[in-house]
Amino acid sequence: MEEKSRVLIIGATGKLGHHLAKFSLRSGHPTFALIRDSSLTNPERAEKLRFLSDAGATLLKGSLEDEESLTEAVKQVDVVICAIPSKQVLDQKLLIRVIKQAGNIKRFIPSEFGADPDKVQIADMDYKFYSRRAEIRRLIEAEGIPYTYICCNLFMSYLLPWLAQPGLKTPPRDKVTIFGDGNAKAVFVKENDVAAFTIATVDDPRTLNKALYLRPSGNVHSMNELVEIWEGKIGKKLERFYASEEELLKKIKGMYSVFVFIKLVTETYGISVYGQVNGGHSGTYLQNSVACCVIWLEEK
Ligand SMILES: NC(=O)c1ccc[n+]([C@@H]2O[C@H](COP(=O)([O-])OP(=O)(O)OC[C@H]3O[C@@H](n4cnc5c(N)ncnc54)[C@H](OP(=O)(O)O)[C@@H]3O)[C@@H](O)[C@H]2O)c1
Repeated sequence: MEEKSRVLIIGATGKLGHHLAKFSLRSGHPTFALIRDSSLTNPERAEKLRFLSDAGATLLKGSLEDEESLTEAVKQVDVVICAIPSKQVLDQKLLIRVIKQAGNIKRFIPSEFGADPDKVQIADMDYKFYSRRAEIRRLIEAEGIPYTYICCNLFMSYLLPWLAQPGLKTPPRDKVTIFGDGNAKAVFVKENDVAAFTIATVDDPRTLNKALYLRPSGNVHSMNELVEIWEGKIGKKLERFYASEEELLKKIKGMYSVFVFIKLVTETYGISVYGQVNGGHSGTYLQNSVACCVIWLEEK
């Protein structure tokens, strides 16, 4: 039997990174986690590390700013997966340099895990969210580092628990605001599924130097459909209000989580992820072994 790649996770104490580390271990990959000292003093993070260590992960001390620790970690593995927060994506530059210099990495999966930054067009409210990710892609490609980009669309735990209602933390029980006509569809994927599919790509030659789109057909819903599902659960019809794109943008401007809503605006209005849902690219479908799910691969 072919040996499983050794996988290094950067961000294993984080929300997605912890799932990635768990699935890597569960899939039989020798698994390494790069850990900052500060993680050990945080009880919740220390608990996650204890779990990973007990499950067989090798914990390596270091950080994205420390070249020596990065080099030492990268040299011990075949695959590097980075799951640092969005606002820090440019901090992967040193890691990319180290991977290039080490020359042993068979696959690098940079921190993205959202919409495709090469396809999203967004208003000026995204704080360079996508252009920074695209910058990292261009660096990886310029250095000739083997990669897979994971385009998983929206994490379910964002927006869905409050039916994407700006300002709410639970789903509405009386009235609901629908953006546009509510018929445009978006993709919602569970974080642990994102992790499972990501780990499934690392030794799959079909995913080498490709962007991988996750859009299980059962996870693609319009706002109207989501509201109907919720109404079915609570056994009650909600009063519906319809907001235009302009009205929604006005409502969310200045909100702390403005970006999350912007994402939904772009999806709802068909500017970004939407094109991906409806196809229109040349690529290859593959039926992944993790679950019965459509996965879309696209040549860069
Ligand atoms: N599609 C969506 O809807 C969606 C939603 C949320 C996130 N995401 C994506 O998911 C990915 C992970 O996000 P997350 O929310 O899971 O992140 P998170 O929970 O904030 O965790 C971040 C992790 O990165 C580590 N880290 C941060 N800076 C580091 C550094 N300089 N050196 C080493 N490790 C460092 C942290 O370690 P410490 O324990 O040391 O702090 C932590 O383990 C990102 O790519 C993000 O864009 C997507």
